[in-house]
Amino acid sequence: MFDEPGFYDDADLDPDAILLETFVYCSRATDDVDADEVSRLVAFSQKRNVARGITGVLVFGSGVFFQWIEGPPAEVRSLIANLHGDPRHYDIVTLDQCVDKRERLYPHWEMEQVAADDLREVLENALETTEDEASLAALQRILAHLVAGPLQSMGRS
Ligand SMILES: Cc1cc2nc3c(=O)[nH]c(=O)nc-3n(C[C@H](O)[C@H](O)[C@H](O)COP(=O)(O)O)c2cc1C
Repeated sequence: MFDEPGFYDDADLDPDAILLETFVYCSRATDDVDADEVSRLVAFSQKRNVARGITGVLVFGSGVFFQWIEGPPAEVRSLIANLHGDPRHYDIVTLDQCVDKRERLYPHWEMEQVAADDLREVLENALETTEDEASLAALQRILAHLVAGPLQSMGRS
C-alpha cells in the first residue's frame, strides 16, 4: 500500500527532496580582495563544498559579494560561522536563512554573468522588507557602493 500513488504528498514522493539549509547573504569585500584572491577563494570553496555536500553560487562585482549556499544543516551552519569570521569581507547581511525539504536549486557548478542591476534589485527588495536596524544600515552602505557594470558570477560547487 505504501507504493500506491497519492499515499504520500508531493514532497514525500520526490526522491530528490532532502533536508537542506539555505543561507543567502551579501557583503562587502575588503579593499585588498582582488580578482586573484576571489579566484583562490572560489577554487578553495569548490573543493571544500563538494566534500561537505554544499552547493550554491557566489557572485562578485563592484566590491560586493552575493552568495547562495545550500546543503546539510550542520555543514551550512559551520560554514556560516566561518564566513562571519572571515576578514576578507564585512557588512555581512543575511537575506534569507531557512531549512526545508526540497530539491537543490543549485545542484551543479556553472559560471554566469550577472548584471549589477539584477543584484541591485535583489538588495533593494531586501531593503524594503528588512526591519533590523543594523542590517538596514549595512544594506544601504552596500547599495551606495554598488556601481553599474557586469558582475562576474564565480560558479557553483
Ligand atoms: C565571500 C566569501 C565566500 C566564501 N564561500 C565559501 C564557501 O562557499 N565554502 C567554503 O568552504 N568557504 C568559503 N569561504 C571561506 C570561509 O570563510 C573560510 O575561510 C573557510 O571555510 C575556511 O575555514 P577553515 O578555517 O575551517 O579552514 C568564503 C569566504 C568569503 C569571503
